[in-house]
Order: sequence, then C-alpha cells, then structure tokens
Amino acid sequence: MEPFARDALPGRVVLGAGAAEDTVPAGAAQAAREEAVTAEVLASFGGADAPRYREIMESLVRHLHAFAREVRLTETEWQQGIDFLTRAGHITDDRRQEFILLSDVLGLSMLTVAINAPASAGATEATVVGPFFVAGAPEVPLGGDIAGGAKGRPCYVSGAVRGTGGEPVPGARIEVWESDEDGFYDVQYPDGRIGGRGWLRSAPDGGYRFWSVRPAPYPIPDDGPVGDLLTAAGRGPMRPAHLHFKVDAPGYRTLITHIFVAGDPYLDRDAVFGVKESLITDFAEHPPGRGPDGRLSDEPWTSVTFDIVLARLPPVPQAPGI
Ligand code: BEZ
Ligand code: FE
Repeated sequence: MEPFARDALPGRVVLGAGAAEDTVPAGAAQAAREEAVTAEVLASFGGADAPRYREIMESLVRHLHAFAREVRLTETEWQQGIDFLTRAGHITDDRRQEFILLSDVLGLSMLTVAINAPASAGATEATVVGPFFVAGAPEVPLGGDIAGGAKGRPCYVSGAVRGTGGEPVPGARIEVWESDEDGFYDVQYPDGRIGGRGWLRSAPDGGYRFWSVRPAPYPIPDDGPVGDLLTAAGRGPMRPAHLHFKVDAPGYRTLITHIFVAGDPYLDRDAVFGVKESLITDFAEHPPGRGPDGRLSDEPWTSVTFDIVLARLPPVPQAPGI
C-alpha cells in the first residue's frame, strides 16, 4: 500500500485506506515533508563538540531552509545560486575577494559591524573594513606623507585621538588607506606598488597629522558575479569618496572607520551601505601655497580635520590570587 495516496478532492491527501480521520490537507502533508528534511539536517549537528559551532550551524540551516520554503526555490534557481557561488570562488585569489564583496553588497558586513561595535556614547562610529586593507603598510612620522606616489591633489589630514571621557590618547596606532584620484588602491595595480597607505602614532597630546591625497569616489570591483548582482538589481557599484582609518590603542576598542567627503554625489547610494552621517566631513580646498605645517604646494591642496573618539574596553577581570 502507498503511504500517501491522492484523493479526488483537490487540496487533500488521504492517508492509508481513506478513512475520514486519516485525511489531512495536502498543504499540511507537504509542509510535514519539508519540515522532516530540516529536522534531519538539524539533528545531524547535534553531536558537534563546540556549542558555538552547533548554535551557528543549526541557526544557519533553520534560516536557509526557511528561505527556500518562503520563496519556493525552484531547482533552476538553486542551480543559478550554485553557479553564482562557483563564479565567486573562481574569481577570488590573493588580491581579489569576491566573497567579502558579496557580504558588503548584501549589507552583511555592515550588520556585523553594527552587532560588534555597539553604539558607545560619543565614540566615533565604525564602518566596513572593505577588501583593500593590507598588513605591512609603511610607518610614517607624525606629519609625514602616506601618498607614496599615489596620484591626487595633496590633502592635509589632522585631528586628535581621545577617549569618550575626553582624555587624550597618546601613542595610538593610526593606520590609513585610500584610493588614488583614479579610484584605484595600490593593490589593484599589478606592479606591486605601495601608495595611499601608511601608519603613524598619535602625539603625547593625542594629536595626529599627515599628508595624503584627496580621496575620490570609485566603483567596487564589478566585473565579476557581484557586479552582475548589482546590475540585475538596478544598483550602481559606486562608493562615495572616503579615507579609511584603523585606530588601535591599549585599553580601547579598535576602531575601523572611514571619513567621507561632504558633498560627494554617492553619499546616498553607497554600494556597500557604509555611510554614517557622523562620518561625513568637510574637506576644504586651498589655492597653491603653504600648508599648516609650512609645506609649500605649487598646486591647489585640500585639508580636513577629524577628531577620533575611542570607546573604552571594559576592564579585564583579575583572576583571584591564590
Ligand atoms: C572599500 O571601501 O575599500 C570597499 C569596501 C567594500 C567593498 C569594496 C571596497
Ligand atoms: Fe575604500
């Protein structure tokens, strides 16, 4: 005997021989069949040793299965998804990270930032790190130039690093990176150049200053599957002009953020949802002449002031003495 037999009544299946009490709505039987798949997969993680791994994987399965059920995913669409991820894998290498881009354009990166950098009264807001941070950038002295030959209008960046209590933070490690005026980071060039990146330490009074180039808007890499996703959505690939900062100081939460150039036409349509109102900053334009530190520029130059406010880390509980 077939365990399930379709009744003549539309929308109902008959269990077994067709007694009235054995009749269940077809939708309910279908839902039960689908739930059984989910339950079996969830159970398969029950033996995981690490509770956090188990929590994450079970939740992932629940949400992924709920998604497939909600949109009634067809087999063709499933295959298209697999093809998309396969292309993302093939285009990813040491210099190109399509999966981070995917996370960025889906807003997952910014959501993760929001979860992990909780708003702390008065602290500078965090934003997405992006794929162009690389370890090993050159150190520059206070007041030095991080441009390293990157093309663009000279830009003098200065400010102070403080804690949320207003206290100066001396010796903070301030790392900056940015694109050149053509919208490319050094790592996007094939010649191994290093430019538009560097790090320095804040002064004893928390102050910092350096020269760089004025940031330019640029498209995120859009010649791969993530670019196709944006096109299909009718979305653009542009990011508004910005300068990246990563600031570390003992006792404070590491801050990863950018400053955005006020007036940039892409502020309201950042491809990766990274813009926060508090990070939009005035960049002033100046005619050729001397900068604030006396440096002579024979071309127009730009300046910006950005004070960085770090959130304190909670004190580490001391282990009781023996
Ligand atoms: C960036 O700002 O460098 C960036 C962020 C997300 C995706 C692509 C680039
Ligand atoms: Fe960037």
